[in-house]
Amino acid sequence: MEVVIAPAAELARLAADAVEGLLRSNPETVLGLATGSSPLAVYDELATRHKEGLSFARARAFMLDEYVGLPADHPERYRNVIEKEFASRVDLPAGAVQGPDGLAADLPAACAAYEASIQDAGGVDLQLLGIGTDGHIAFNEPGSSLASRTRIKTLTRQTREDNARFFGGSVDDVPRHCLTQGLATIMSARHLVLLASGRAKAEAVHQLVEGPVSAMWPATIMQLHPHATVLVDDAAASRLQLADYYRQTYADKPDWQGL
Ligand code: F6R
Repeated sequence: MEVVIAPAAELARLAADAVEGLLRSNPETVLGLATGSSPLAVYDELATRHKEGLSFARARAFMLDEYVGLPADHPERYRNVIEKEFASRVDLPAGAVQGPDGLAADLPAACAAYEASIQDAGGVDLQLLGIGTDGHIAFNEPGSSLASRTRIKTLTRQTREDNARFFGGSVDDVPRHCLTQGLATIMSARHLVLLASGRAKAEAVHQLVEGPVSAMWPATIMQLHPHATVLVDDAAASRLQLADYYRQTYADKPDWQGL
């Protein structure tokens, strides 16, 4: 696992560099997209690079998760968020972004179909991730099976409180259930790139990088991934025991070596 501690703008550029490198070597790259605040600066950076000529015309993308039951036109429905924040700002073709169907009549069948779609696409090349203050990735809340696949999950009170800011501050308006890629689904992606900023993420980041692998901190499963990159600002890194070592390692990294 590589840990990079840097200002937020640099982190977004590094993540965008990784996406751009993939697209240039394989225009049919399959991206994994996260919602929430953490990847927004990356989407801004990719939209800028698209204006400068970077094309997503042959790429595809899969979302991590979706709320259950939000109306199709709800602005916080993750499909709509991704359309607004990313897909509509680049040249991804219509239908190139897929997400779990939180409005399906048969939710378990929708989850199974979603897993099949990811596999049919050949898997995800690069998965962008944020992390919850409770250590979730996607919406794999504490106690999630480390072998889980896309399924229905109940959001914790903490996650609903954290996300109330997107719902006018009202926890009651945050859905209680979601469909989420499982931890094993995420682990199947070829490169994991997690972004975290702010002191509220410091304990989760410490557990992710330095804690024991445990369902209590689901993100710790990333320690078992052969190519995982953790991009954090100073505040999110503030509880890392080996922060100086990670800083030195990154400072000594050869220029030619990407993430
Ligand atoms: C969103 C997702 C979540 C968020 C996490 C952090 O698709 O999968 O795991 O990444 O809740 O959210 P932010 O970035 O808003 O702090």
